[in-house]
Formats: sequence, structure tokens, C-alpha cells
Amino acid sequence: MRLADAAAMPVVGFGTYPLRGAEAEAAVASALDVGYRLVDTATRYGNEIEVGRAVRATGLPRDEIFVVSKLRGRDHGYEAARRAAYLSVERLGLDRIDLYLIHWPLPMRGAYVEAWRALIDLREEGVLGSIGVSNFLPEHLDRLRAESGELPVVNQVEAHPGFVPGLVEAAHRRLGIQTVAWSPLGRSGRVHEEPRLREIADRHGATVAQVVLRWHLRQGRAVVVKSADRRRQSANLRIFDLELTTREYAEVGASVDPRGRIGGDPETFEEL
Ligand SMILES: NC(=O)c1ccc[n+]([C@@H]2O[C@H](COP(=O)([O-])OP(=O)(O)OC[C@H]3O[C@@H](n4cnc5c(N)ncnc54)[C@H](OP(=O)(O)O)[C@@H]3O)[C@@H](O)[C@H]2O)c1
Repeated sequence: MRLADAAAMPVVGFGTYPLRGAEAEAAVASALDVGYRLVDTATRYGNEIEVGRAVRATGLPRDEIFVVSKLRGRDHGYEAARRAAYLSVERLGLDRIDLYLIHWPLPMRGAYVEAWRALIDLREEGVLGSIGVSNFLPEHLDRLRAESGELPVVNQVEAHPGFVPGLVEAAHRRLGIQTVAWSPLGRSGRVHEEPRLREIADRHGATVAQVVLRWHLRQGRAVVVKSADRRRQSANLRIFDLELTTREYAEVGASVDPRGRIGGDPETFEEL
């Protein structure tokens, strides 16, 4: 898919939280091998070194892999964000990061606009390819635009059948921002046992995960999905030939009782 800045971003990406150390490196190597071309990491995950190692070890040309990382809360502010982004690049061992996100807005600290200005400058300098945010609410997006004149191309937010971020996605449509769903399967095993999803999956000879991921794409979202298991990694990527009926897509959205967020509330969550 094309982002608002014309960069091409794969719609299905590989999530690396909470993988660490050798397990992270092996999982990313396997994910790239089965066909993923986007890898999602963050300073907070403590695995940028291993992710970078796996990316560099593939025989793939660098420009075929889209690497995403994120700025921690404690690095908000202009100078701190600049330093932190350079350290991310160094840990990854890459020439640049394809997409760098402000991980959480931390509105109580009031420093995300300054961090955003740093990301704009680093993009101009070629250190970052595209720049975006994560877990931002509409008012945070509006504030970025009002105070910097620039909008993020991506907002990576929690989204799964048990939690659809309707107001945020409405803002994205208004502002031309691409939604990326984190925890697209809702992280836990519960979604896979949901009888209505099982039924749809069985009808198509697919897995519940494939049905849910396909539903995200149909809603216009990109996804970052994590699996440490090579077979599940591969199956989660093989969703492009799966086509549900309009009714089935609607059923997926209504299949799970809304349970609310599994992650933090962006208004109050202090990710440092
Ligand atoms: N921006 C943010 O604030 C933020 C927050 C949270 C996460 N993220 C990103 O989003 C990525 C994905 O989110 P997530 O890891 O929380 O949740 P998720 O991708 O929805 O679910 C991952 C869980 O589902 C299991 N799973 C994966 N594929 C499966 C399949 N086909 N069948 C059955 N189980 C399957 C995995 O187990 P196995 O490994 O055993 O397969 C793992 O336990 C993260 O890795 C991270 O990169 C971002």
C-alpha cells in the first residue's frame, strides 16, 4: 500500500513483541524467510539489536525490507528524540529506519510535539524514511497538525474484533492517515475459540487467524501480527486469496463481545 508520503508499505507485517534475544532473532529470520517484508520493533521491546541482525543476515536487498521502530516515552522532547532515533538506527545496524513512530503520546508530559519536530528533521536528513505515531487519539493528531503543519502517515493502534477504534479511524479517514492494527488477533487464544469465527473459517478451509487478518485488510487496515511459530507465521501471511462474503465480513466485526482494550488507554498510559 502507498502511504500519504508515497512510501510503499507492506500491509501485513511481523510483530516482534515480546520476543527477546536469540528467540527474537530466530523468529525474525524465519518470518523473513516465509515471506514477511515488514518487521515491527520498538526501543521499548529491547530487541532492536537482534531484529537488525536478522534483517542484515538475510540475502534480501535492504530496500525490500520495511523496518519499523518506535520512540520511547522517556525520549520525548526535541534533543532526546534525535538522540534516541540515532541510537535505534545504531542498534539496528542499518542505514536508516523505514518508519519511525512515537510509541505513545503521553499527553500528561506534553512533549510529543517536540519529539515530532525532531522526527520531521530526521526524515529531512534521511535518517528516517517515513514518520508516524502510535496510540494517538484524534486530539493528539490535530495538535500535531496545528503546531507542526505535518501529519503522521501512520497511526499504529490497538484493533481486533473485540476492540475497534472507531473514532480514531474516522479521524484517520479525515486526515489521510493509514491505520496499522496492533494485537490484530487480540493477543490471547480466545479469538481462535470464538464459535462464529470458527464457522466462517471452516467454511473457507481457513484458520480463524486468517479470517480475522483478512477482515482487517478489508476494513482498510494494515496489520502487525506476531507468532514465534514458523507454521503460524506462514499461515498468517497467506490471506490474500481468502475472500469472505460481505455478510461474513460484517459477522467478523460482530463476532466477539466488545471487551475493550487489552492495552493501555492512550490518554493516561505512561509508557516510559
Ligand atoms: N504500538 C504499540 O503500542 C503496540 C502494542 C502491542 C503490540 N504491538 C505490536 O503488534 C504486534 C502484534 O501484537 P501482539 O503480539 O500483542 O498480538 P497478536 O499478534 O494479536 O497475537 C499474538 C499471539 O497470538 C498467537 N498467534 C499468532 N498467530 C496465531 C495463529 N495463526 N493461531 C493461533 N495463535 C496465533 C501468538 O502465539 P505464537 O507466538 O505461539 O504463535 C501470540 O501469542 C506486536 O508483536 C508488536 O510488534 C504494538
